[in-house]
Amino acid sequence: DWVMDDFIENTVAKLREQIGDKKVILGLSGGVDSSVAAGLLSRAVGKQLTCVFVDQGLMRKDEGDFVEETFTKLFDMNFVRVNCKDRFLSALRGVTDPEQKRKIIGTEFYNVFWDKVREQGSDGFFAQGTIYPDRIESGKGNQAGQGSTAVIKTHHNMVEKPDDINFAGTIEPLGDLFKDEVRQVGEKLGIPHDLVWRQPFPGPGLGVRIIGEITEEKIKILQEADAVFRDEIRKSGIESQLKQFFAVLPDVRTVGVMGDHRTYDHLIAIRAVTTDDFMTADWARIPYDVLAKVSNRLCNEVEHVNRVVYDITSKPPGTVEWE
Ligand code: XMP
Repeated sequence: DWVMDDFIENTVAKLREQIGDKKVILGLSGGVDSSVAAGLLSRAVGKQLTCVFVDQGLMRKDEGDFVEETFTKLFDMNFVRVNCKDRFLSALRGVTDPEQKRKIIGTEFYNVFWDKVREQGSDGFFAQGTIYPDRIESGKGNQAGQGSTAVIKTHHNMVEKPDDINFAGTIEPLGDLFKDEVRQVGEKLGIPHDLVWRQPFPGPGLGVRIIGEITEEKIKILQEADAVFRDEIRKSGIESQLKQFFAVLPDVRTVGVMGDHRTYDHLIAIRAVTTDDFMTADWARIPYDVLAKVSNRLCNEVEHVNRVVYDITSKPPGTVEWE
């Protein structure tokens, strides 16, 4: 429609004027907002833009590759992917407390991201995918980083900029838009549908969906299980009715039977919610026949899974995520 075409054209012109021949750095999480911001900046200044994508190894199956492919093949920019799964895994070794896990993932992300920024040079602008509701929320002060002048919304919501890094300025090209407008802009820029309509994904990624210690094996099991669940939901035609749906690995093993032998393997929990604002949520009434297919496929196709449960807890008292 006209409004969004105008928005893109005007924003691109403004960005070109503001940026001139300087460089721009953007932290790309693979979420909707930073992806659309990247698309706009790419259209405005091409290779003057560097996107830093920190892959901590806790994304969904194939997601890191998909993000890389999208932004290297469809858009003109410098794309820097930092693969640091091993670093995150060793920092998380033996840690089971949910808050401790979040803190470690946040700290590691912060260090990796800003080190990469230092390496790239901070003589230009810093861009972020902040949208209008983020600005309102941080104004209310319910996010970390409240009161600081330079905050970044990345995997880990708001993260303060280290004092030794000084940019020419901060650019927030989506700062006046609501989520549905951001999606419209994303579609117009040619960002793939799956990215534009991506469901919310927490900053700590699968780290908050693996209860207990996070190991490479558990990540693999959860990624496979989650991919199967999402595939069945897509095929069932009910995807658009769900706000968020994913698999959880509760770190529980139970006894089962496969063929003529006993198994002692992992339990997978599946979670699907409907909600307006994520402050409260209801568990989704997924049809039994869909649940049946999901359960069969999880036990048959995902190694080390022998039992499936469906989470029927609303929020409150449950949260959407398990940690
Ligand atoms: P909860 O579990 O608090 O989740 O009911 C509400 C919504 O927030 C998402 N979530 C996060 N998003 N960083 C994020 O960017 C986080 O640390 C985080 N924790 C939860 C969750 O996926 C749901 O959409």
